[in-house]
Amino acid sequence: MTTARHHRTGLPPAGSRRLLEGWLESRRAAGFAEHQARYGPAPVEFYADRNGRARLLAAVDASGLRGRGGAGFPTGRKLRAVAKGRRPVVVANGCEGEPVSSKDHALLTVAPHLVLDGAVLAATAIDATEVILCVHRDDPIAGTVAAAVAERPSGEIPIRLVQVPGRYVASEESALVNFLDNGDARPTAKPPRPFERGVNGRPTLIDNVETLAHLALIARYGSEWFRGCGTAESPGSTLVTLGGRVARPGVYEVALGTPVAEVLDRAGGPDEPPQAVLFGGYGGTWLPVQSAVRTRLSHEDLRDAGATLGVASLTVLPARACGLAETARVLRYLAGESARQCGPCMFGLPAIADDFTALVLGGRAAQQAEQRLRYRLSIIPGRGACAHPDGAVRLAASALRCFGTDLRAHLAGRPCAWAAQPALPLPGWDRRGGDWA
Ligand SMILES: Cc1cc2nc3c(=O)[nH]c(=O)nc-3n(C[C@H](O)[C@H](O)[C@H](O)COP(=O)(O)O)c2cc1C
Ligand code: SF4
Repeated sequence: MTTARHHRTGLPPAGSRRLLEGWLESRRAAGFAEHQARYGPAPVEFYADRNGRARLLAAVDASGLRGRGGAGFPTGRKLRAVAKGRRPVVVANGCEGEPVSSKDHALLTVAPHLVLDGAVLAATAIDATEVILCVHRDDPIAGTVAAAVAERPSGEIPIRLVQVPGRYVASEESALVNFLDNGDARPTAKPPRPFERGVNGRPTLIDNVETLAHLALIARYGSEWFRGCGTAESPGSTLVTLGGRVARPGVYEVALGTPVAEVLDRAGGPDEPPQAVLFGGYGGTWLPVQSAVRTRLSHEDLRDAGATLGVASLTVLPARACGLAETARVLRYLAGESARQCGPCMFGLPAIADDFTALVLGGRAAQQAEQRLRYRLSIIPGRGACAHPDGAVRLAASALRCFGTDLRAHLAGRPCAWAAQPALPLPGWDRRGGDWA
């Protein structure tokens, strides 16, 4: 396949360190000149005409790139769906609402121009005339991003930076569209989905900022280079946030398909005896540590293991913590983040959090709560306007599977001694940003 390879001056990053190559250690944003010296100019001209757009769409399709915002949807398919409509818009989602994920923040901190290149190239591919980059309102990354936007060459597609309320569901795609149109950061019912009818009624491509940074490299180096690491179903590298009880928590870049044990080793491994790993953040899934370290970090391996990759965060829970109590706290937080528009979410999530709290306390009330809980977990999924309740149900159901031994002890009236000692971080009240406008 023809690519823009001959347009670049930089060499393709070797191995699985691609997005963060050379940047992460600097802990500061690469300026435009430094960015271009490393990767060469974004090959916008190379893809600007009708044939060029077709080549870029074909390259993204062939790369097998999947979205890094949580759902893992094929990026090429989404680009093509948006490209069918008139005067499309590109929205780069840099909000990173997951409390245990910081990979988008790390990427925007050190390589903002890679993200902006990706957004501009995506706009080129679908013939869009506007790019909007969204970050959370209370996130200091806005200053770095604004400085990078100001450095972009004149004549490029205009890029607008928008700061969105710092709520968990405000960065869901229909909430972003609603906020951009009406100043209300709550999700709306689908259909229509943003790719059909988004910002100002125009077809809108909403992609995670990491997805766009990968696209910027695929446009330069081609799909075969991208597939040089990863698996057939989950190609390329991914940014992972390693947290909880690991020796060196932080953001790392690894090839998809890397054994989870090796991924954890990148952060120095657990720094005390581990019990379980939470994959994909607070809308994700728990796996017992024995199962977690036997699997690989890919969509297909995690699916087979009963988990989801989500935003590729791995949070290690120590053996001394009570997984049920941790889950109850997170569920309470998720219930508080409901936009309170849909019954199953507005009433169902607090009820699940109450049931989990009863399980933690143990005894007879816990036995009744368990029965109610299993029923509720079966009826809530798919019934909200957005997938927020589905994430909370996924977390709760995986906790019942993962912490089955603890569950039986709690039901028998022997709750864990550590239930009161929190291990997982929750955002402070100030991060919740108050309201929706
Ligand atoms: C409750 C909720 C919160 C979300 N928060 C984010 C977020 O902070 N950042 C993000 O990129 N995607 C988030 N998403 C996913 C977006 O709706 C959208 O699917 C994503 O930005 C698409 O990008 P991708 O195809 O590149 O993954 C969220 C989804 C839900 C249901
Ligand atoms: S499912 Fe929940 S968070 Fe999503 S729109 Fe409905 S009430 Fe809001």
